[in-house]
Amino acid sequence: MLKLGVNIDHVVTLRQARYARTPGVVQEEPSVLAAARECEMAGAHSITVHLREDRRHIQDRDVALLRKELGIPLNLEMGNAPEIVEIACRTLPDYVCLVPEKREEVTTEGGLDVAGMQESIGATVRRLRGHGIKVSLFIDPEREQVAAAAAVGAEMIELHTGAYANLDGEARDEELGRLLEAGAQGLELGLQINAGHGITTGNLGPLLGIPGLAELNIGHHIVSRAVFIGLRAAVAEMLAAMAAGNPDGN
Ligand code: PXP
Repeated sequence: MLKLGVNIDHVVTLRQARYARTPGVVQEEPSVLAAARECEMAGAHSITVHLREDRRHIQDRDVALLRKELGIPLNLEMGNAPEIVEIACRTLPDYVCLVPEKREEVTTEGGLDVAGMQESIGATVRRLRGHGIKVSLFIDPEREQVAAAAAVGAEMIELHTGAYANLDGEARDEELGRLLEAGAQGLELGLQINAGHGITTGNLGPLLGIPGLAELNIGHHIVSRAVFIGLRAAVAEMLAAMAAGNPDGN
């Protein structure tokens, strides 16, 4: 069964917009834990948060709180920075997804260049796995990146669907072809295949054809829908779209 990980970074973006300078005040809202519980109650299979080096949304205390209180697996998205790796080794999320991180970006832009940084990424993968954390690498759907992810010992890849989400027509079909091929290659190499970035109920359908697809990580669309219909309903809506499995999509 295809699983859904909900990224709740932008619930915290809202909190930080008002309370970044006064953390912990009594009226601080929205609560990251209450949001995670809404997702859980709607049937989400895991919660994802990205502890960025600049701490623009998720804070260290959020990761600690979720680790302590959450009833479903916690997926920590993070750059391969020594400070953040230390936090992961202390906090022990169920999964880590390593992503490239640039301070000036609005959101994660490209996939991780695993092929070009095998040594440093491999060392971090070994370290995290040594702490019992299951590791995923967020990569573009390219042959050499899939091969490198398997070579450095990651158990999962998360295929970057951002380009697919931003394209249309023939270019989108070509990108979808790359995603399907990368999934098939990863599956053959024994990797768990996940996908994420820019996924909506509207563009989801064709992605469901990715061979071996095990889990989707979705944030912005769900939190945007939540503004209108509530978080629990937004998660349920996405789960329903996944279950409907419309292979033609739009
Ligand atoms: N997966 C990864 C690795 C990401 O960096 C992000 C964005 O934080 C997502 C999934 C979720 O993307 P979106 O918010 O566009 O659904």
